[in-house]
Amino acid sequence: MLIKVLGSAAGGGFPQWNCNGRMSSSARLRKPGFRARTQSSLAVSSNGRDWVLLNASPDLRQQINETAELWPDAEGPSRNSPIKAAVLTNGDVDHVIGLINLREGQPFSVFASDRVLATINANSIFDVLNPEKVDRIELALDTPTPLSGAGVDLGLKVEAFDVPGKVALYLEDASKGDSFGTEKGDTIGLKVTDQATGKSFFYIPGCAAVDGPLATRLKGAELVLFDGTLYTDDEMVSQGLMPKTGHRMGHISMSGPDGSIAAFDSLDVARKVFVHINNSNPALNDNSPERKAIESAGWVVSYDGMEISL
Ligand code: MLT
Ligand code: MN
Repeated sequence: MLIKVLGSAAGGGFPQWNCNGRMSSSARLRKPGFRARTQSSLAVSSNGRDWVLLNASPDLRQQINETAELWPDAEGPSRNSPIKAAVLTNGDVDHVIGLINLREGQPFSVFASDRVLATINANSIFDVLNPEKVDRIELALDTPTPLSGAGVDLGLKVEAFDVPGKVALYLEDASKGDSFGTEKGDTIGLKVTDQATGKSFFYIPGCAAVDGPLATRLKGAELVLFDGTLYTDDEMVSQGLMPKTGHRMGHISMSGPDGSIAAFDSLDVARKVFVHINNSNPALNDNSPERKAIESAGWVVSYDGMEISL
């Protein structure tokens, strides 16, 4: 199974268009150690020919152009694509807007929870994906689902499971208190298994906490790609970017006693990779003490174009 990180940044990318904070401005000025990143997405294939996208970011067009595996087959018909399916882990702008780039009448399948499908179904702009050609398939939670699209069996199955998190920002309902109306299925993690080899990995780009059920699920995993949004809960506040904490946004931090690095310490996961990294996260600086701390804890900070073979 091949895994490609198409985009390693969180919403906004790195640099973010309107951000003049020290991290984004360093990336914009191409200072050494500050590699630019597009928004959160992976591509996965069991045969190197047919691919599924895990999330579809607003930067998808650029990501496809930079990834030869996702180009049309030069020997194929005048219009073709190796992208046969997309699986969505939440309704965030950074994870769904790329679907719009996949218009032009190409058949494929979109898999998502009932909650995220309802959001897409409620917004008619997604109907640019011709419903006769683009199937919308509900991923039942805790049920392995074989992936296919455009008549092709991808040789992969995914199991979707609810994780602690928050409903997408634009769907928050302030009248519902601290949960903002979040329901099961608003934020899911995925276990992706290659049906031929039995190898599997977890992809959890948004997660508010590693609770007991999640820890049990991840114990002993070969590979986990996990929410790396923030290094510290209040970093966006302390950098003067905006008044929100990670906790308020539904994202666990990397550091601290309640952070992901500590939570994974006892989980015996062989390869731990951070994805969905926010432009405020000092670990995006290759030469930062935060990056060193992550790496000494056995984690890898992903980058656009990173390839993993399982
Ligand atoms: C998130 O991951 O919290 C969202 O992508 C934030 C946003 O919608 O900008
Ligand atoms: Mn996001």
